[in-house]
Amino acid sequence: MTDTYVNPLRDATDRRLPRVAGPCALVMFGVTGDLAQKKLLPAVYDLANRGLLPPGFSLVGYGRRDWDDEQFTDYVLESVKERARTPFRAEVWRQLAEGIRFVTGGFDSDEGFEQLKETLREVDETQGTEGNHAFYLSIPPDGFDQVIEQLRRHGLVDKSRTTPWNRVVIEKPFGHDLASARELEEKVSSVFSSDSVFRIDHYLGKETVQNMLALRFANQLFEPLWNRNYVSHVQITMAEDIGIGGRAGYYDGIGAARDVIQNHLLQLLALVAMEEPASFEAGQLRAEKEKVLAAARAPRNLKSHTARGQYTAGWAGGQRVRGYLEEEGIAPDSQTETYAAFRVDIDNRRWAGRPFYLRAAKRMPRRVTEIALMLRPAPHLPFHLADTEQLGANALVLRIQPNEGITMRFGAKVPATQMEIRDVTMDFNYGTSFAESSPEAYERLILDVLLGDPPLFPQHTEVELSWKILDPILDYWADKEHQPEGYAAGTWGPPSGRTMLERDGFTWRRP
Ligand code: BG6
Repeated sequence: MTDTYVNPLRDATDRRLPRVAGPCALVMFGVTGDLAQKKLLPAVYDLANRGLLPPGFSLVGYGRRDWDDEQFTDYVLESVKERARTPFRAEVWRQLAEGIRFVTGGFDSDEGFEQLKETLREVDETQGTEGNHAFYLSIPPDGFDQVIEQLRRHGLVDKSRTTPWNRVVIEKPFGHDLASARELEEKVSSVFSSDSVFRIDHYLGKETVQNMLALRFANQLFEPLWNRNYVSHVQITMAEDIGIGGRAGYYDGIGAARDVIQNHLLQLLALVAMEEPASFEAGQLRAEKEKVLAAARAPRNLKSHTARGQYTAGWAGGQRVRGYLEEEGIAPDSQTETYAAFRVDIDNRRWAGRPFYLRAAKRMPRRVTEIALMLRPAPHLPFHLADTEQLGANALVLRIQPNEGITMRFGAKVPATQMEIRDVTMDFNYGTSFAESSPEAYERLILDVLLGDPPLFPQHTEVELSWKILDPILDYWADKEHQPEGYAAGTWGPPSGRTMLERDGFTWRRP
């Protein structure tokens, strides 16, 4: 008898065929922001350069600057030349530039939104965008509500219609807590139908994150280990060496937990902990993620199993750097955390009693995002303890970035010794194993929005479930007595981050 294997990728469309978007306009709010300048605008060019945008395409910027189309086009060109991943090709740029428009207006400006409507009518005619419009809200969360209302008021969206389509793209964080996320959802769903809402979590657009699904469900090798019988605990780390830079306005009052744990890290947790979906169709994938998020919860003892810090002056990249409170635009008594760590327990058969530890922080010694499955020790070692002194726990580490790949750590005999055993690692590197370079997450996600392809976008239920995990922790931290501990920039965080694991008999990996 042969083993039959049902491929979970079976009903995905053939990913080898380039998927080219149909005629459409992409309207961007927040074009002068950091994200648009560094990531979104270059990604649009890279898509055009890869031949994935249609001839009937238009990019419309909306903002307060008193720019004409030409000035905005120059601005886009500058960001493309500085940041695009693919080489600059004049003919590609010429064609893209033909469809670039700018509309001046604030979020509250009726005149601005009327002008936007007019501009879209014009590009539908001259560029052949056929009335298909995506609205990308790359703006601070407190503006979502207003812009969505303006789109409705000015008749830029028709919920009852599927062709031509209107879609909205919302950057995280979606809400500030569970209650505000629900309120926002009410607003969004009163204007857009649920399949027209694309909530961005750019981690899901990363190739290495998608590779987690391949690793888990395309192989036989790992699955037997992927449970409480073999794994002692899981560590998910997102460390950044940068400080908050010029993002004080966005970051202060939000902090590390809302900025990246509620979304990126809990999505990583869901993908690493979920059961195999019946297929990679959006509904199936979401169902599995939702199930595992519903089984996940904040630790029972919040004092012992959460940690919160704020960087003080220190060293980064060989330079002396300021502390968070000295950064421009930060209130001197700000209590926003730049380091957040906590334990999550998953109450299901696969993971009961095997904690997941999440940590995210700015001004760490280096930039690294990884998921480490730490395995339980071998039940018995038939060696002298002295010979195994340098033996740690076996680990399977999924390196999300940089040096994307996978590391396995296990013990091996040191050559020419009687039987001394030491940890060694075995590496898979994306960069050396494949000739193709990885597209930026935003290329993939913008293209998926234009194609109306939803699997890589979290649904509202997932957003709610993530807030449900986080809310008790945020409430606990809101208490004046539980203020962030200082840690020097360029170090691995405050002592409470360490003791949190030590209490359970573990230590953080040094990634
Ligand atoms: C964003 C956060 O979502 O992710 C930023 O708002 C963070 O604070 C960024 O710096 C990191 O993204 P990446 O892709 O560099 O890990």
